Parts: sequence; C-alpha cells; structure tokens
Amino acid sequence: MLTQAPKGTKDILPDEIQKWNYVGRRFTELCSRFGYKEIRIPVFEHTELFQRGVGDTTDVVQKEMYTFEDKGGRSITLRPEGTAGVVRSYIEHGMSSLPQPVKLFYHITAYRYEKMQKGRYREFNQFGVELFGAADPSADAEVISLLSLYFESLGIKNLSLNLNSIGCPTCRKAYNELLKEYLRDKIDHMCETCQDRYNRNPMRIIDCKEDKCRNYVQEAPRLLDHICDECRSHFEGLTRKLSAIGIPYVIDKSIVRGLDYYTKTVFEFVSQNIGTQGTVCGGGRYDGLVEICGGPPTPGIGFALGVERLLLEMESQNITIPDAPNPDIYIGAIGDSAGLVCEKLAWQLRSKGISCIKDIMGRSVKAQMKYADKLGVRFSLIIGDTEVESNKAALRDMKTGETKDIHLDTLIDRLVKNKNA
Ligand code: HAM
Repeated sequence: MLTQAPKGTKDILPDEIQKWNYVGRRFTELCSRFGYKEIRIPVFEHTELFQRGVGDTTDVVQKEMYTFEDKGGRSITLRPEGTAGVVRSYIEHGMSSLPQPVKLFYHITAYRYEKMQKGRYREFNQFGVELFGAADPSADAEVISLLSLYFESLGIKNLSLNLNSIGCPTCRKAYNELLKEYLRDKIDHMCETCQDRYNRNPMRIIDCKEDKCRNYVQEAPRLLDHICDECRSHFEGLTRKLSAIGIPYVIDKSIVRGLDYYTKTVFEFVSQNIGTQGTVCGGGRYDGLVEICGGPPTPGIGFALGVERLLLEMESQNITIPDAPNPDIYIGAIGDSAGLVCEKLAWQLRSKGISCIKDIMGRSVKAQMKYADKLGVRFSLIIGDTEVESNKAALRDMKTGETKDIHLDTLIDRLVKNKNA
C-alpha cells in the first residue's frame, strides 16, 4: 500500500510533464485569444451543490462521487467535474453584475469512482470553459470553434464533432411522457437504476450503460425529433454558424450527456483511435443551472476536455511534443577554492537566465563529465586551481566536442549571446 498509488490515480513523472505543460499552455493561450479569464475553484464543495447541479439521477451523483463527512459534520464531495463549482463561484462573487458575457476557463483535476480502464481514471484532469450570459447560438458556435481551433493547433485530426439538442424543460416534459409511454411494457425488464429513473428522470434511461437496457432503448423516440420551435430554431442557428465557419459536424440524436444540467445544445468530440473511452471532450448549454443553484436566471454554455484522453489521442496520431530544453552548461570544480569560484559563477549564470548545473556531489572529474554528458548539456566547464589563478578555463561544446580557452569574466556574456542566437 505504501509504495503504490491508489487505484485509478497516476503520477505524472518528470519525463512526461513537458507534454502536460505544452497542451496546458496552448489551451491557456487560445482561451485568452477568445477573451476568457482563468478561474481556480476548490477541489471540494458541499455535496448538495453536485446533487442539485449535476443532478441526483445521474451516474456521477448516484454512483461515482467521493463523498465524506468532515470533522465539522458537513457532507463534502471531491469535485467530479468543474461546471457546478464555477457556477457556484459565479453566483457567490456576484459575477452577474459584471459586463456579460463572463468567460472563464480552468485546468482542474476531477474525481469519480469509476471502473478503471484505458482513458478512464478515478482522478483525472480537465481543461474547460464556462461562458455565462449569452443565450444566442453564436455563443455555442464560438465555444465549439475554440475547441476546433485547439485541436487544429495541436495537429489533431479526424475527431468527430457529434451534436444534438436535448431541448428545454418545456419540450422535455412532453418528450418524457412520450418516452415513458414507449418504455411502459419494457421497464420491468430493465435495470433497477432505470426503473428508478422511469419516474424521476426518464430521459436518463437513454444513457444507461447496461447492455440489456441499451437494447430496449435502441428504437426509442429521440428528443431532437420532438423539440419545440424555439429550441429548433436555436439548433438550426448553431448548425448554420458552424457551416459558415467551416466546422464539420455530425448530428447524433443519441447524445443525452451524463449530467442533468444541459438544455438545448449538447456536443462531444469523439475519437476512433483510443478505445472505448473515445470521448475526448463533452459540453453543452445549461440555461437553467445558475438559477437552480440559487442565482439569477442566466444562460450558460461550456465544455470540458479530458487531458489524459487528449494525450492518448495525440500519441495515437504520432504527434510529437517538443522536448524540454536541456541545461545550458555544467560547471565542475576540482578542489576547495575552485569550488567557491564555481558557487559564485553558477549563481551569476542563473541570475542571467542561463540554466546551469554544478557539481554538488564532490565527484571526480571523470565522473562529473560522464554526468554532464547524461544531462545533455550544451557546454561544460571544469575549474581547478590553475583555472582559478589564470581566470581562464576550457569551455567544451558537448555537441561538437570542440574546446576553447575563455576568460571566465566573458563566460556569462558568451552564454547569454549563444542562448539568444
Ligand atoms: P463530462 O462529459 O462528464 O463533462 O467530462 C468531460 C470529459 O472529461 C470527458 O469527455 C472525458 O474526456 C473526461 N473524463 C470524464 N470522466 C473521466 C474519467 N473517469 N477519466 C478520464 N477522463 C474522464 C463534464 O465534466 C462537464 N462539466 C463538461 C461541461 C462543461 N459542460 C458544460 N461545461
């Protein structure tokens, strides 16, 4: 137990971190280009926020939350996603009185007690955006276009954008009755969870993962065929805008999404390459959520993409990410007085922006050079008593093997120039 991370979690090791930083930086840059500002929310919230916001008939709330009582007797839950927390923050900090729309983005970890498999973890990472205050389909198109540009900027090809509308509470009410009628003679043969959902939230039955239930709903009526005029015109507005931008999409009437807050637009970007957990990103509109959580009526739309799945997809498409740069120079010392000169030199180099590794192990020259080679440094320099006296040393270019005697006073300028060249 002591030497093994809990099931469903994983370390991101130094060798991999460059990839994570790279995709994270790209996401931040692109969000800024679209006018989004970063928000950081707590890892845990009051359980009730997710019960109300995400919905207590969803798998996430019914089966997957990490919920516990804290020492003050409060029920606390590790966030299973970011939207509810961002909505809570939007309300708590009176963001509805800011000029609308309010555009926020985040990088978070999230927690769901799920069965482990490739692309599915119990602690995972999401990049997401939430946009408040804009009801027009232009907002939906802009959010989707941000994602599409993001994938393009990373060189990811062939993700399928699958789109649906699940209507508003008014059209969903009529649809739920229709669905119940369709399922009336089937529901007794379906799983217990679906039987519970039959009365509480029939649409959720469409999302059941059990094979027997999936068979029963295969031919069930779909909401997109029954949405009201306003929802239809919103959906058509979105598809027209996507076509105008040139973003291809597929209409998939079976998408209902696994969270209850969605209204109208729902969408997913799906990969064929990374196995059964191919949904790299999911999102949609949630025009009632701010009000459900105690705020003023406010339309909203957003998405979250799974960073683990994004990286799996990039790997499957052989997209390489530039390596982290190696240190600029290794400075070795032989003897005490040379050691002191090296301390100062390393400090000066680092303060000028040069990445410098120096001996802190008291190794022999041979061992130091071997280590410098392993680090992949561009230059190395060994200082002993002679070098201290002459204030000169041999600078070795580790790429070419060439050495040049240089004055130690000129070393910093030389390396700075080399770095900026
Ligand atoms: P979600 O579909 O539950 O939506 O999750 C979004 C993405 O997170 C998924 O498409 C997937 O890539 C990743 N993901 C989900 N669960 C796991 C897991 N167990 N392991 C690895 N990756 C996972 C949401 O979370 C919504 N908050 C999205 C949203 C934002 N809608 C509106 N605004």
